[in-house]
Amino acid sequence: MASTPAAGKEAVAPASPNNSPAHVAIIMDGNGRWAAARGLTRSAGHREGAAAARRAVEGARDLGLKYLTLYSFSTENWRRPASEVRDLMLLLRKFIGDELPTLKREGVRVTIIGDKKNLDAEIKLLVNHAERETAGNSAFFLQIAFNYGGRDEIVRTAKKLAEDVAAGRLKPDSIDEALFTRSLDTAAIPDPDLVIRTSGEKRISNFLLWQAAYAEWVFLDVLWPDFDAAHFAAAIADFNARERRFGGVGATL
Ligand code: IPE
Ligand code: IPE
Ligand code: MG
Repeated sequence: MASTPAAGKEAVAPASPNNSPAHVAIIMDGNGRWAAARGLTRSAGHREGAAAARRAVEGARDLGLKYLTLYSFSTENWRRPASEVRDLMLLLRKFIGDELPTLKREGVRVTIIGDKKNLDAEIKLLVNHAERETAGNSAFFLQIAFNYGGRDEIVRTAKKLAEDVAAGRLKPDSIDEALFTRSLDTAAIPDPDLVIRTSGEKRISNFLLWQAAYAEWVFLDVLWPDFDAAHFAAAIADFNARERRFGGVGATL
């Protein structure tokens, strides 16, 4: 069998096949260590982290990206002390509340990926409001991964498809990589070309497990609150110097 299923090819199709990423996803890590180094509370670190996130959205647009995904709260972050979890929830609300008018005016479409079910009612309302208010925008796409876990997303998607099969709306045979991709929280967004993780940790921590199958990775020894335009540009330059192969043979070989 020499042929490759078309669905497989589609599923790993990059947002931008050549150099220059269209979609960058960031694991914004290191707020706690940034605060500890200054004798501040972890919450103070998260506040500075939110300011860095605001700068990253601007930076992404200045760098000519089309999509930015920010990992803000993982399905595992509920394990943190209740007061920290509460502060992170408040920060999401403040971030959306403060930024929505600008994002809306500048044509940014905002989507929250992750399981919204367990978020409190007010956050759900705000998040749905932000998505609705920006649904018609297409100048730039900002995804906030909140209560997001890659495994959780895959399981929720599998469950949804299983329900469709049980209800007779879907044939098991129609489930392929392309359909699965279209059924994820990221349905409308191409796979990330580049994932950046700050703080020096070199792990995926349950982020975009499906979508990052062929992403390039850049790990930076900078704590997230210190992340600036120069770090962002350097990560893109690193990406631009690489050759992606998607399992094929490199152009230079
Ligand atoms: C990232 O910073 C923010 C979240 C995970 C919510 P951390 O809070 O994980 O910071 P460190 O890793 O403890 O320094
Ligand atoms: C990943 O960072 C999650 C976010 C940045 C939101 P963590 O700090 O939670 O990851 P681990 O625990 O070090 O793997
Ligand atoms: Mg961390």
